[in-house]
Amino acid sequence: MNLSNILPSKKRLHIETYGCQMNVGDSEILVAIMQDEGWEYTENIAEADLILINTCSVRDNAEQRIWGRLAEFQQYKRRNRNLVVGIVGCMAERLREQLIERAPIVDIVAGPDSYRSLPQLVGEAMKGESGINVELSKEETYAEIRPVRLDKTGVSAFVSIMRGCNNFCTYCIVPYTRGRERSRDVQTILREVRELYASGYREVTLLGQNVNSYRAEDTDFPHLIALVAETAPDLRVRFATSHPKDLSDELLAQMVAHPNICRSIHLPAQSGSTRVLELMNRRYTREWYLGRIASIRKYMPECTITTDILCGFCGETEEDYAETLSLMREVGYDAAYMFKYSEREGTSASKTMADDVSEETKNRRLAEIIALQNELSLASNRRDVGKTFEVLVEGPSKRGGGQLCGRTSGNKMVVFPCGEVQSCNIKAGDYVDIKITDCSSATLIGVKV
Ligand code: SAH
Ligand code: SF4
Ligand code: F3S
Repeated sequence: MNLSNILPSKKRLHIETYGCQMNVGDSEILVAIMQDEGWEYTENIAEADLILINTCSVRDNAEQRIWGRLAEFQQYKRRNRNLVVGIVGCMAERLREQLIERAPIVDIVAGPDSYRSLPQLVGEAMKGESGINVELSKEETYAEIRPVRLDKTGVSAFVSIMRGCNNFCTYCIVPYTRGRERSRDVQTILREVRELYASGYREVTLLGQNVNSYRAEDTDFPHLIALVAETAPDLRVRFATSHPKDLSDELLAQMVAHPNICRSIHLPAQSGSTRVLELMNRRYTREWYLGRIASIRKYMPECTITTDILCGFCGETEEDYAETLSLMREVGYDAAYMFKYSEREGTSASKTMADDVSEETKNRRLAEIIALQNELSLASNRRDVGKTFEVLVEGPSKRGGGQLCGRTSGNKMVVFPCGEVQSCNIKAGDYVDIKITDCSSATLIGVKV
């Protein structure tokens, strides 16, 4: 008997995610909340009764992309008049009712701390009333919600351990869109990790805007990561992001003590100029930052180090910018995310400093920074040629041709042939030793040993 003919069909939601890893994690929480109310997730946007777009406000171009995408949603609304469109995430928090005023196809606006009210907002929208909830909370961590995993590999998952940010870097909108910093309780984190492991996941990334300031009762971040790593020796543990001012030797010591905590640290520098760092309110100097790098190298010489670089910030001179280039060379980053400053309304920089580096100069500096990082990434990958790494397999490579891909503990992507496709018995979630034979600036290429 075909039950689908007699059971009422479930309402379907689709979600598109922009912005940082925190949003990837939040989308999985949103799906869990809606699933509890009887909704089902669909990958096919055209058949959805509810489309959510999880947004980012960190730079103007992030927001522009989302405006463009919203315009494209008109076609779905024309085809299905009952379709509900919701904007969630940081742009929802920042722009609130302006979103509905500017884009009438939007029915719902929900900020990052109000996702529990989504079913109610959707219910009202289905009756034709648009709804907004952008209240921020000092406590909400969605602690007990079991996220519905949307990634397909089933190998690697994000686990949110804290929300919000108290740092108020002068350029940054995040403290305004995400609210105050708060940590999730230890037990729900450990339960989530154990469940992931039991269902076949072999890598978790502990997420927060500043994971080093995690604290729940007596447990600080080094203690938490040790507990997570002790779940199983073949569970890889990563974390992002670390603020340099809070990266402690105690954390480095826990990494050394637990080989399954990955040898990879993302430590956003933003600038190499102490003067600019001060204008940014980063609360460390170039020397302090280099001291942290020296400490990482001392504890774990094999650890990869990646960063975020922001150029063209208010008042950045050619000398300041040259110091950023020299910092990048001195550290020899394995990879970096690089941006040009984009003024965000409401931040302290937008209120008190002039956005005085011309667009042309910002573009030139960014292009040079990217070119330098390409050189550094290639040099870093070349140093790995000839070495053998334990690779956690994620699945078929995008390159096709029967190639597989996976990552090293240092978070470098490795592509390797599986051998004869018929006899290939390596699968996602396996660990294999791969000897590196070649590379590009983005990928290592190797063979199974
Ligand atoms: N909490 C993380 C970063 C979150 S935002 C940290 O402190 O490292 C990710 C990156 O976006 C930042 O590291 C910064 O390089 C960049 N960014 C933030 N605000 C920006 C702005 N106004 N313009 C351009 N880039 C920005
Ligand atoms: Fe933004 Fe700074 Fe907080 Fe990172 S630490 S989210 S850059 S305010
Ligand atoms: Fe963007 Fe919000 Fe993340 S502004 S970077 S989605 S915290």
